[in-house]
Amino acid sequence: MEVIILPDAAAVGLAAAKVIAKQLRNNPRSVLGLATGSSPIPLYAELVRMHREEGLDFSKATSFNLDEYVGLAPDHPQSYRHFMQVNLFDHVNIPPAHTHVPDGMAEDIPAACAAYEKGIAKAGGIDVQVLGIGANGHIGFNEPSSSLRSRTRFKTLTEKTCRDNARFFDSVNEVPRYCVTMGIGTILESRQCLMIATGGNKADAVAAMVEGPLSAMCPASALQLHTAAKVFVDEAAAAKLTYTSYYRWVHNSRPDWQRD
Ligand code: F6R
Repeated sequence: MEVIILPDAAAVGLAAAKVIAKQLRNNPRSVLGLATGSSPIPLYAELVRMHREEGLDFSKATSFNLDEYVGLAPDHPQSYRHFMQVNLFDHVNIPPAHTHVPDGMAEDIPAACAAYEKGIAKAGGIDVQVLGIGANGHIGFNEPSSSLRSRTRFKTLTEKTCRDNARFFDSVNEVPRYCVTMGIGTILESRQCLMIATGGNKADAVAAMVEGPLSAMCPASALQLHTAAKVFVDEAAAAKLTYTSYYRWVHNSRPDWQRD
């Protein structure tokens, strides 16, 4: 894992956006794996700016989101489809038909999950997967104890995740208990992973992901198995890492061909 420690969430968003922009410029037909939540908001804001001011082109790109709540319609203000429209899709030129978010309203959820996996494969696999991390170490909605080989499927959220996400709803009772999420196995098949973690409430999870044992109890630790995982963290989220001087040394002394 390449750990990149930056001063704050804005710097993290900027650095992550540069990775996505480089990917799109190298291959306009890139397949992007996208996340929702607070962590990628600065990234999406920067991508929108790059589209408007620098002509960053999404017209040939395809996207697959990590997850969706079961029972929320696409136009529900807290659905992840709605989040993506408001924060990214409505402001860039990605064709609507190229954007995919798991269907939380599907009548046959296992069939919809299998179709989602097929869709990713048909698109050629995910080039860059954006990820956030839950305070309990989840990625996507793969909660602790998820199989490290899991595929897109129905999951039950933990009470902790419901409480963490209650800030977006009127009360914790309105947070759906169920979701559809790409699996850890699905995520690990992406060619590159881009983890974004900011804020002190992520410090324990970040330390467990990077320096803890590989364990289903910290699903994000599965990224230790990925050959191209970049972890962008701000100082607060990096606070409980122990090898920080090495991570900074690696980043600051990287050769020219690894720089933006
Ligand atoms: C959302 C997702 C989740 C979030 C995680 C962190 O699509 O996959 O794993 O990335 O819950 O959420 P925030 O960024 O809101 O702290």
